[in-house]
Amino acid sequence: MNDNLHQLRCFGCGERISGADARPDFRCARCGDLFEVEYAGWSQRQSFDRPNPGALKWLWRERRSSSETLDQSGVWRFRELLPILDSFGNAVTLREGNTPLYPLIRTAKALGMDQLFAKHQGMNPTGSFKDTGMTAALSVAKERGFEWVACASTGNTSAAMAAYAARAGLRSLVLIPEGKIAWGKLSQAMDYGALTCQLKTDFDGCLRLLTQIVQEAPIYLLNSVNPYRLEGQKTPAFEIAEAFDWTVPDHLIVPGGNLANSSALGKGFRELHELGLVARMPRISVIQAEGANPLVRSFAKNQGTAMEPVEAHTRATAIRIGNPASWRKAARVIQDTGGWCLDVTETEIAIAKAELGAEGLGCEPASAVTLAGLKKLRADGKVAAGETVVLLLTGHTLKDADYTIDFHRGTLLKEQEAAGHEAEIDALRRNAVVMEATPAAVLAALKGSVG
Ligand code: F0G
Repeated sequence: MNDNLHQLRCFGCGERISGADARPDFRCARCGDLFEVEYAGWSQRQSFDRPNPGALKWLWRERRSSSETLDQSGVWRFRELLPILDSFGNAVTLREGNTPLYPLIRTAKALGMDQLFAKHQGMNPTGSFKDTGMTAALSVAKERGFEWVACASTGNTSAAMAAYAARAGLRSLVLIPEGKIAWGKLSQAMDYGALTCQLKTDFDGCLRLLTQIVQEAPIYLLNSVNPYRLEGQKTPAFEIAEAFDWTVPDHLIVPGGNLANSSALGKGFRELHELGLVARMPRISVIQAEGANPLVRSFAKNQGTAMEPVEAHTRATAIRIGNPASWRKAARVIQDTGGWCLDVTETEIAIAKAELGAEGLGCEPASAVTLAGLKKLRADGKVAAGETVVLLLTGHTLKDADYTIDFHRGTLLKEQEAAGHEAEIDALRRNAVVMEATPAAVLAALKGSVG
């Protein structure tokens, strides 16, 4: 570990420890809160350790045309801002990151906006944003000589962890809630050779159990309580800033589950700002599903200063989390950037997902909360027509094909959920039609569809 360059700072009590002294559950021994990676010298201007903004921007751009393995990773391309390894030769990479930023032209028009984009993190090697965090934290596990890594997951973390562990030659243990994850994700954990345990509990129960297990066995915990995960997950902020030529968009909208990703992106933009690479931070808003909305409730009740867990229910299984570990970090990002925290219904999620699909940008339901949230923010006058907004799409549409098929077959939403939205839903549904294998039958279907 490169402890000369980084240390861990407790988010709750400010205690600083070296990376090597972190407990297996990554909780502070003094107050029980989570740690953040901190780099000495960055916050003090004129320090010799402080990276030079112009030189960094040039170097990172040059690396885009490099054939070196590390340069081809959209995470390690920015390695000057995540010096967490003793040797970058230990980095385990699947060429993650460098994901596309797509303009959403039709959706922008429908919302009366000029500048709307989707940063599609589902275009990562295992189909979700988790790859950016996994390349960072799993590389630390490898450098530290661990043989086993583990995570509790709603599916995507386990898929990413299993793949990166397999690449590194490590063994991986996955704890997932039985029956409550999408099949695409479960199949990935199996494909990449993880020991997969489906537990008769929810995500929060899986994480609680794993926290106990890592105290008793030499297993490296790769959930997002591990602060090195966030170092990788902050890099899409660098990609977004770079894509806008180091001006930042006005507003970034992110889904909220365990709330690490919003925390990581906030950290990324904060560091760019502190280092003088960008002039300001974007507003960062977090959207939760109505049935899994503990942070929304916390903002409504006490401005995000205390959070009560909820029993989580949503078809967007990736964010079916009632007791998010990183809620304090996410609350600070929302407060510091002037963002909002709101929730959206199951119907709003399903419609938003189909609208994104109709623009050729499939995503999983948890990602679609961002568009559903933006629609609400626009309706409430909280986003102006001229603002530049980026929606963070977190997972690929093929992760949860059942959800999409159920929507188009008309079996996803209950009658009372669809009530009042029938016309909108009917306009979006494209069910597959079964017919005789004759030109006449296909031509008749075509005529019906055009007419
Ligand atoms: N979107 C997707 C597709 C996810 O898989 C997750 C989290 C989130 C959003 C929420 O991100 O937790 O950082 O707020 N999935 C985790 C998992 C919990 O186990 O794959 P978050």
